[in-house]
Amino acid sequence: MSAAVPFTIPSLSGEVSDAVVKVLDSGWITTGPQTAAFEQEFADHLGAAHVVAVASCTTALELCLRALELPPGSAVLTPSLTFCGAINAILHAGHRPVLVDIDEDTLVPSPETVAAAAARVKAVAGGRGGASPHNDGPAAMIVQNQGGYPVDVAALTEAAGLDRTRVIEDAAHGPGAARGGKPVGSESFAACFSFYATKNMPIGEGGAIATSDEGLQEKVRAMRLHGMSKDSWKRYLPGGSWRYDVKQVGLKANMTDVQAAIGRAQLAALPEWQRRRAEIVAAYDEAFRDLPGLTLPQRHLDGIQHAWHLYQVRVPDRDAISAELEAAGVSTSVHFIPANQMTSYRDILGADECARVPVTDRVGEELLSLPLYPGLTSDGRDRVIAALTEALRARS
Ligand SMILES: Cc1ncc(COP(=O)(O)O)c(C=O)c1O
Repeated sequence: MSAAVPFTIPSLSGEVSDAVVKVLDSGWITTGPQTAAFEQEFADHLGAAHVVAVASCTTALELCLRALELPPGSAVLTPSLTFCGAINAILHAGHRPVLVDIDEDTLVPSPETVAAAAARVKAVAGGRGGASPHNDGPAAMIVQNQGGYPVDVAALTEAAGLDRTRVIEDAAHGPGAARGGKPVGSESFAACFSFYATKNMPIGEGGAIATSDEGLQEKVRAMRLHGMSKDSWKRYLPGGSWRYDVKQVGLKANMTDVQAAIGRAQLAALPEWQRRRAEIVAAYDEAFRDLPGLTLPQRHLDGIQHAWHLYQVRVPDRDAISAELEAAGVSTSVHFIPANQMTSYRDILGADECARVPVTDRVGEELLSLPLYPGLTSDGRDRVIAALTEALRARS
């Protein structure tokens, strides 16, 4: 029997080792010239005005929320079908997550589900006689590119009744995705990327904020390092001064030059990796076209370039099928266990709020993510196809 197929293997460019050694030998290993160069190169790659490199996508989301300076306890819309880090970012910023249901065809919120959640916020505010800190509607919203699907940010922003400067994109799955020919993050008020080990462009850990807004860029740049007006690289440059101010309390969320050097090497390899992902997706699509019991989310839509971060399918009897695939040597995952089903969020948000996302609950039971990464061999891909086909045919 051939080797097992892991759910994911991080893609690493052949240039990474040399790049890291050069930084280690350079005499400067934390945020500095490599980070500045990575920011410029990632901005050029996206076509974005500004990029600020940070420690993770989770901290990127929290920094952007804090930079909005909303009243404490503000209502922030978020899909419930998301990663816990995105919910934690809202809570750590001192706000209240308001859960938005998904459209079952795309697995992301629709204008209708966003409008319903915004109306719920308004109804609560009205019931409190206007005492709510968020007045009558939501104060902000996080939208998310589930699996690499580029959401229609403008339509969701309008449905929420928000200004674009109150909408933050969780683009953890976004590198490689575009809508209407515009890459995710190219024109965003704030798009937060992840370079976590499993992502399309892995650094191991890391994140970035892409923004078209000069003011936001300045704020999050200071806030990623405690809020200091000058980082130590600038202070210790010849002619630099030890003096600095803290104008707005920030986080310790800077990217190091070691991470940035890895990112620069990885960025050069990204287009080829995206091509390989698309090839695997085409093979899966072809093999699964008429498979009984399988539902594929909508992804091949006009004007949409998917990032192919995840290959998510919907199957009945998901837990058993996942176990059967594991026994056949094929590892799978689930994106995501809905936030409304997690103990801590149920405690914080209450059972009533957590019952507001019925489609998420239903579809969440069926979601299964298959192995999809540039290093997946043709043999591995064929084993995934054979194992899932067998599991579903046995049930038809
Ligand atoms: C949708 C989504 N948002 C946010 C994150 C958090 O990213 P990071 O690990 O860089 O903080 C992840 C990571 O898995 C994610 O999948």
